[in-house]
Amino acid sequence: MTETTTGARSGVTDEIPEYPMVRERGCPFAPPAEVRALGTRKPLSRIKIWDGSTPWLVTGYDELKTLMADPRVSVDDRRPGFPHWNEGMLSTVHKRPRSVFTSDGDEHTKYRRMMTRPFTFKRVEALRPAIQQITDDHIDTILAGPKPADLVTELALPVPSLVISELLGVPYEDHKFFQDHATIGVDRFATKKQATAGVVGLATYLKDLIEKRLSEPADDMVTELAGRVRAQEISLSEAGQIATGLLIAGHETTANMIALGTLALLENPEQLAIVRETEDPKVVAGAVEELLRYLSIIQNGQRRVATEDIDIGEVTIRGGEGIVIDLAPANWDPKAFAAPQDLDVRRQAVSHVGFGFGPHQCVGQQLARAELQIVFRTLLRRVPTLRLDIPFDDVEFKHDRLAFGVYTLPVSW
Ligand code: HEM
Repeated sequence: MTETTTGARSGVTDEIPEYPMVRERGCPFAPPAEVRALGTRKPLSRIKIWDGSTPWLVTGYDELKTLMADPRVSVDDRRPGFPHWNEGMLSTVHKRPRSVFTSDGDEHTKYRRMMTRPFTFKRVEALRPAIQQITDDHIDTILAGPKPADLVTELALPVPSLVISELLGVPYEDHKFFQDHATIGVDRFATKKQATAGVVGLATYLKDLIEKRLSEPADDMVTELAGRVRAQEISLSEAGQIATGLLIAGHETTANMIALGTLALLENPEQLAIVRETEDPKVVAGAVEELLRYLSIIQNGQRRVATEDIDIGEVTIRGGEGIVIDLAPANWDPKAFAAPQDLDVRRQAVSHVGFGFGPHQCVGQQLARAELQIVFRTLLRRVPTLRLDIPFDDVEFKHDRLAFGVYTLPVSW
């Protein structure tokens, strides 16, 4: 369904398509064709979202970088005009304490500082042996078990879940609880009831754990957050929100990248062979960057609102207007990446925006990179005959999640 409006400074009348758009059948790795076409033809356009509002959609690579780095572009979801993902996010906006995801400027810096330490390059490098061990253990289990194996439940989900549980100090025995709640939290079309049960339920669980660590400290991030609560730097609710964000962002995204990335490699055997055969860790690292570019799993658009008028290209975004920044078409913008539809693991793709750009760029990117490099390299070398066990057309993709991926991935060898 479309309607018309005059959004551009030029006053040109245009049709407004509904967003999110749907990926084409048979081309699940590609951003939806409509979004791709906008990316090259019209990097800034209007869309209509679930509540009938018509925010801007950003699909061009240069425009994305400009806007994501602009201090007049806010992530504060309480501001009028903010284009919420769904009813669930709108309905919990005043229930959710402020956090790194929803704050700007100094407030954002305050929250971000509290979570960056365990995710620095140096700290993540020190975690590599532990990640390698967890990966090897899970591959041992797969190889000793029946065929086919579901790569999602046997490898893609447990590896990042175990790593983030360990870092945070969340008992892994509770993984079923937090994975289920995180799953609701990343529903693209979550209702008010679902959002309350999902994200709020998880935050309550983490607040209880933080309270426990006040009297029973351990060597983990939850204890560190408890210390900040005791020092009155943040409230218990804020600490719970930080831990919730890390727990959800820390496993769901990487898990989707592992399973979807494996599938993309299986569908491109000559690219897979490059990753499997190389002795050079830089080649594996480059392949991970290319997979992050090619797949851009965060599929619902990063949500922002303009705090002042912003002139960009041929349009003026007015103060108070919503902005949806879609990473996938920007990563397939031919002005930034030649032949973007080709998965080319030798391409220099490091300038991709799969982790976002600007002050809110992903906190956990070094950890995600380390996990992906270790898992792909180990899996392809230890299981060189790995293959998809069902027809490609039968794979169930996560069209209804904020992060794209597959629900299951039956593989044999
Ligand atoms: C392949 C895996 C991952 C992908 C593709 C990914 C993607 C992203 C993207 C696109 C953003 C920017 C959001 C925005 O600007 O609106 C982001 C932010 C964030 N990510 Fe990730 N992420 C991944 C893994 C992780 C991990 C492992 C963690 C933590 C352990 C994490 C924690 C965060 C946090 C806390 C933010 C918010 C940063 C801020 O607002 O300042 N992510 N991520």
